[in-house]
Amino acid sequence: GRLAYQTLELLEKVGITCDEMKNKDTRKLIFTDEEHKLRFFLAKGPDVPTYVEYGAADIGIVGKDTILEEGRKLYEVLDLKLGKCRMCVCGPASARELLQHHECRMCVCGPESARELLQHNQQIRVATKYPNIAKDYFYNRKHQTVEMIKLNGSIELAPIVGLSEVIVDIVETGSTLRENGLTVLEEVCPLSARMVVNQVSMRMENERITKLIQDLKGALV
Ligand code: PRP
Repeated sequence: GRLAYQTLELLEKVGITCDEMKNKDTRKLIFTDEEHKLRFFLAKGPDVPTYVEYGAADIGIVGKDTILEEGRKLYEVLDLKLGKCRMCVCGPASARELLQHHECRMCVCGPESARELLQHNQQIRVATKYPNIAKDYFYNRKHQTVEMIKLNGSIELAPIVGLSEVIVDIVETGSTLRENGLTVLEEVCPLSARMVVNQVSMRMENERITKLIQDLKGALV
């Protein structure tokens, strides 16, 4: 979608053009730049790391959110600074107190066997399209046990209709949250589009790929 057009504009700045790809009416999947001996294709965001890990594509442009969520083996080589937004924990302001905060912690301690005696407090439910990012955040960074509910879109609905207490989702302008009476409670990480490279291609096509990275870096400045 939007990222594809912004990426094409950036590629044009380094002399790579693919006008055919800009035609919104075409159903063609693969496009060629004969001059530079390049082939492009559009794929759904979550599939981009898959194509790149398996080497079906040497290079991919994809959001950091998808890179983190998919956890594929590839090299992330460049931040294109496009599509900047944030992954956040959001919900009604009243849900703030359900989230644990501990820069420094006053702790209840005891033998492991005593843990179950303490677990009478309510476990919060987290709805998200990004269960791996959300699990990493709550379990590994916050050490808070939560119930994860995977959704596929319009995540903001979940706390409104009582499916979950909070959500983990992308916030760009914040207007979806505002219009639905929700707010950012915590920031998980900043996001933007990244260039990723297949690990074998990086060695085999090192010169071409390194040149492209350098050219793109120059265009970004
Ligand atoms: C994303 C995200 C939020 C919205 C945030 O949704 O999931 O809903 O954009 O943008 P904002 O802060 O500028 O309002 P997307 O449009 O990708 O659709 P989805 O809800 O189906 O994931």
